[in-house]
Amino acid sequence: MLIKLRGTARRRLGLFVAMWLAVSCKSWAQLPGMMATPDRVQSRAWWPTTGTPGREEYVGPAVCGECHSARAALQKSTAMARAATAPTDSDVLRVYGRLSFHSGNYTYTIEPKDGTVLYSVSDGGHSLSVPLSWEFGVGKVGQAYFFEQDGTFYESSVSFFGGLQKPGFALGSEGGLNLGEALGRRIEPPEGRACFGCHTTASTTSNQFRPDLLIPGVTCEACHGPGAKHVAAMKAGKVEEGAKSIFNPAQLNSLDQVEFCGACHRTLWDTILQNGGGVFNVRFQAYRLERSACFRNRQDRITCLNCHDPHKPLMSDMAAYDPHCLNCHASHGLKTTSEHPAHACPVASSNCVSCHMPKVEIPGIYFKFTDHWIRIVRKGQPYPD
Ligand code: HEC
Ligand code: HEC
Ligand code: HEC
Ligand code: HEC
Ligand code: HEC
Ligand code: HEC
Ligand code: HEC
Repeated sequence: MLIKLRGTARRRLGLFVAMWLAVSCKSWAQLPGMMATPDRVQSRAWWPTTGTPGREEYVGPAVCGECHSARAALQKSTAMARAATAPTDSDVLRVYGRLSFHSGNYTYTIEPKDGTVLYSVSDGGHSLSVPLSWEFGVGKVGQAYFFEQDGTFYESSVSFFGGLQKPGFALGSEGGLNLGEALGRRIEPPEGRACFGCHTTASTTSNQFRPDLLIPGVTCEACHGPGAKHVAAMKAGKVEEGAKSIFNPAQLNSLDQVEFCGACHRTLWDTILQNGGGVFNVRFQAYRLERSACFRNRQDRITCLNCHDPHKPLMSDMAAYDPHCLNCHASHGLKTTSEHPAHACPVASSNCVSCHMPKVEIPGIYFKFTDHWIRIVRKGQPYPD
């Protein structure tokens, strides 16, 4: 209890300092109702990344699929469902078979061997090899690799970069002075727990980080919460009780809906508390969206669900997003109406996101992220963070 109070007090102080910084240094202005994810997790029975339910309360996506078969079949093919897998299941290795990278004195290889995936570093004379235990990311942006030594996770020095379609040094890594160092960096337990918390399901249960018991990827119960009670009730024909015993994000108001996805995609407060200024925060879609006029200027705010169905793969046809913008905005040349209360574009009638959600590359990541701060982009204007 004492520790919990201290934690809360510390966060309050952090929030106060951050608020002061926010008000005095930047125009990050928060809106009433916005919260940092750790505070949401503490104040609600269920919120993504919560680690309190027991492992026995989770059933896994195959069981959900017994009744919600269409959703389950589609969700399986999303990037989220494959956000972390066993290395033997890596999409990148399926395509490339073997990854090899050379820098300075060292050659790094990642290759399947005898039912495992072996990661090796060689200086020409000596070499070290370890089996990989996890891969993170489908590889569109990149794929990172974890191995274990003495019960501790390490991230390999080498990642795969989707923008380059080849391996390179992981962000912040540059090899090492000896083979051991060259292999990778130690992941401190809180960081490891956070990686798995956002990339897998049920990695922390009964407040214990148990990677041995997790469900790979962001699957049904990462968003809907543990489902054993729901399944038991539905199997017993108790539909009303069943509906109440599963979390349905459709019931959230529009601000909370954005913060719900923001539990992993980082909210405005998460970004302030991480001191997340600069171009790197283009990866924080909830934060970016929360700064948009489309979000701020109405009670009925834009949410992630306006444009994305979390059960389906991402739409890559930019014109396909037009109807979502025109849900609120009047069409080119038309005046606003009660159905389309937001202004029309004076410039164009289609391909809205190509101008208003520009692509921004983060140095060292080689990927052009979509800026979710929907806005008028002026030529020569610096990245507004
Ligand atoms: C035995 C069948 C069955 C299984 C298994 C099952 N569900 Fe359901 N679920 C239903 C039925 C029936 C409904 C009510 C009708 C509907 O919305 O499809 C429902 C409704 C829901 C709802 C909407 C609840 C609301 O607010 O009305 C969600 C969310 C949901 N299920 C998620 C899940 C998840 C996640 C799993 C796996 C953990 C799962 N279901 C497993 C039968 C099942
Ligand atoms: C438990 C954490 C978590 C939650 C909650 C979550 N996401 Fe994600 N999401 C991820 C991770 C991790 C990835 C990266 C997956 C990858 O590319 O490997 C991702 C990727 C995505 C992508 C990119 C897909 C692609 O093909 O590139 C979209 C779109 C997305 N999420 C939308 C949403 C929406 C909408 C919500 C809320 C309904 C949401 N996410 C909630 C963790 C989460
Ligand atoms: C707060 C939640 C969160 C944490 C913690 C987190 N991630 Fe992610 N990660 C995401 C989301 C959301 C995405 C998708 C958007 C993006 O690419 O930034 C993502 C994307 C990625 C990608 C690119 C996926 C692709 O599409 O190619 C990799 C690789 C990755 N994360 C690795 C890691 C590793 C390794 C750690 C721990 C050191 C980690 N992540 C910690 C949420 C998180
Ligand atoms: C990334 C988060 C996320 C994941 C993963 C996810 N869902 Fe959902 N789910 C949502 C959100 C948000 C809604 C509400 C909006 C909507 O209907 O799409 C929803 C709605 C639903 C509903 C309908 C509720 C209604 O009101 O009609 C069902 C049923 C459901 N999900 C089942 C599943 C099943 C089964 C899986 C796994 C195969 C799954 N979901 C995976 C976020 C998620
Ligand atoms: C107004 C429409 C719109 C809204 C709202 C929206 N997105 Fe997107 N999102 C897009 C478009 C367009 C892309 C780019 C698709 C592509 O390049 O294939 C995208 C791409 C992504 C990606 C892939 C990485 C990237 O940078 O391209 C992630 C992750 C994502 N969105 C998450 C979210 C989350 C989380 C929310 C809510 C906080 C959200 N989006 C709200 C339109 C939207
Ligand atoms: C949920 C409703 C909603 C959706 C969906 C929506 N907007 Fe908006 N948008 C607004 C509102 C409200 C405003 C502020 C008042 C206005 O422009 O009428 C706004 C403002 C804007 C502005 C002016 C920004 C500024 O800084 O002056 C642009 C540009 C814009 N939206 C583009 C888009 C694009 C592009 C999409 C689709 C990718 C989109 N909007 C989707 C409601 C929405
Ligand atoms: C070719 C690039 C381009 C495309 C495509 C485009 N816009 Fe614009 N839009 C602009 C520019 C530039 C402005 C600023 C005009 C000015 O202030 O001179 C603007 C202004 C706006 C505004 C602010 C209007 C106001 O009165 O404040 C909104 C809202 C908007 N666009 C929405 C959209 C929507 C919705 C679409 C898709 C139907 C779209 N835009 C397509 C470039 C574009």
